[in-house]
Amino acid sequence: MPQKKMIHDLVEMKARGEKITFLTAYDYPTARFAEQAGLDMLLVGDSLGMCVYGYAGTVPVTMDQCICHSEAVRRGAPNTFVVGDMPFLSYQVSSQAAVENAGRFLKEAGMDAIKLEGGARVVSRIKAIVDAGIVVMGHIGLTPQSSGQLGGHKAQGRTAESAGAVVRDALAVQGAGAQMILLEAVPPEVGSYIAGLLSIPVLSIGAGIGCDGQLLIVSDVVGQFQTFVPKFVKRYADVAGVVTAALQEYVADVKSGTFPAEEHCYRMLEGEEAKFRAEFK
Ligand code: KIV
Repeated sequence: MPQKKMIHDLVEMKARGEKITFLTAYDYPTARFAEQAGLDMLLVGDSLGMCVYGYAGTVPVTMDQCICHSEAVRRGAPNTFVVGDMPFLSYQVSSQAAVENAGRFLKEAGMDAIKLEGGARVVSRIKAIVDAGIVVMGHIGLTPQSSGQLGGHKAQGRTAESAGAVVRDALAVQGAGAQMILLEAVPPEVGSYIAGLLSIPVLSIGAGIGCDGQLLIVSDVVGQFQTFVPKFVKRYADVAGVVTAALQEYVADVKSGTFPAEEHCYRMLEGEEAKFRAEFK
């Protein structure tokens, strides 16, 4: 069993050019698979709103849902660096609420760090959480919680002006004390420029090969989420196909009377059936 990575291990991986592997997980079994597969880091993302609860987006997700799923992931992956994701309105209202909610991820769910969305405009929240002794991952570029303001789930940084804004956000987040950054849906030119500019690890989800590591949503990776497939996704399995085929076979077996078979039954103990029948004719 490899040793659990800490934040300084991740910073050292960046320094020596070793790519960091990062995946979302929302439940105990997936966390176990991910730890067995050797992931460096896991994110209990608020994408659980879509991937687990079937919401249209992440906005309805609550702190209690995030804590509950973070606890399950921690139980499944006790030796992996796990990041809890701060849901919409858990940090926007005040720095005090931000610190209290960030603290819940550590106290109640054993998370190693928290992630929150936003660049320059959330600097005061990042500082407050860092001052409380909590490792923070910033999340910039496409920020799904504020996708309404961005005009939808659109890639950012595709013009020089927009790319400049993403770079300024990255510098602001690092300057506020965040120890990692997640960069979502920006061109690879912008991703590699920011990864080279910052001293902290820059993780990519749709930000190209030049970043220090890659994140994907587990439900996309295994082919479980069917509503839409973002451009940055690479699918490695067809869980939806495998599970649907298994369930179709189960339905057919029950309908045709081939399930349950003899090997699935608990037989009565020797001599007990005769006694049973004598009493219940
Ligand atoms: O919630 C999540 O999984 C995320 C990714 C979309 C980056 O924040």
